[in-house]
Amino acid sequence: MRTPFIAGNWKMYKTVAEAVALVRELRGMLDGLEGCEVAVCPPFTALAAVREVLSGSTIRLGAQNVHWKDEGAFTGEISPLMLRELCEYVIIGHSERRQHFGETDEMVNKKLHAALAYGLKPILCVGENLEQNRAGETEAFVSAQVRAAFAGLTAGQASQITVAYEPIWAIGTGVPATGEGANAIIGGVVRRTLAALYGDEVAQGIRIQYGGSVKPDNIAEFMAQPEIDGALVGGASLKASDFAAIVRNGLAAKAGK
Ligand code: 13P
Repeated sequence: MRTPFIAGNWKMYKTVAEAVALVRELRGMLDGLEGCEVAVCPPFTALAAVREVLSGSTIRLGAQNVHWKDEGAFTGEISPLMLRELCEYVIIGHSERRQHFGETDEMVNKKLHAALAYGLKPILCVGENLEQNRAGETEAFVSAQVRAAFAGLTAGQASQITVAYEPIWAIGTGVPATGEGANAIIGGVVRRTLAALYGDEVAQGIRIQYGGSVKPDNIAEFMAQPEIDGALVGGASLKASDFAAIVRNGLAAKAGK
């Protein structure tokens, strides 16, 4: 059984003071919850302060990006060696980084290797854009993204990774995929590709989230699907009551309630 995993990607939102306030609220709403892993991924600047607020909490902490070197002359970058003191998870290869900051499959692969070498647990994002989706290229594209990302990783390393399938056309648009549509790609493409790489047993153990316009009123549709193990939530993770409702509704749906 894969433990459901719901994470909030705060993107470039929240000052340190705002982040602390939000996570205090979340602690009050979600602390001690069983049967589901919950994580928040604030901006780098808020990691240390949020970590303090979460001390002793069941809510986990993640970052949104990482460089692949442990140190060096890379102005503005943050290394896995630095991150491991602050957090447990790290989002890698988000489409916004691929799109706006030129991240390639090769860079994503290097980041995965580096994060894993330092004991960080990656959340790897994959997903097609609208054009690719309309052209019927989703399967080939997403499968190639997964293969490129996992290149050179052992089964043991692969098992540490959570994959987030985030179709770009669903991110921030208010137009989510359907539960069935997302389940088909997650099971039929992402998990199937992982099975081809590592065998069925390993693939069955890897958690795969859906991301893209997840809200309190649509999370159940995704979590009710057998292949979908959780969600990577953007906008709706910025409000404590919404994120808490997503976690609660998602967990209930997974439990078949
Ligand atoms: P939204 O939930 O705002 O659509 O963002 C999804 C996302 O990109 C999470 O990483």
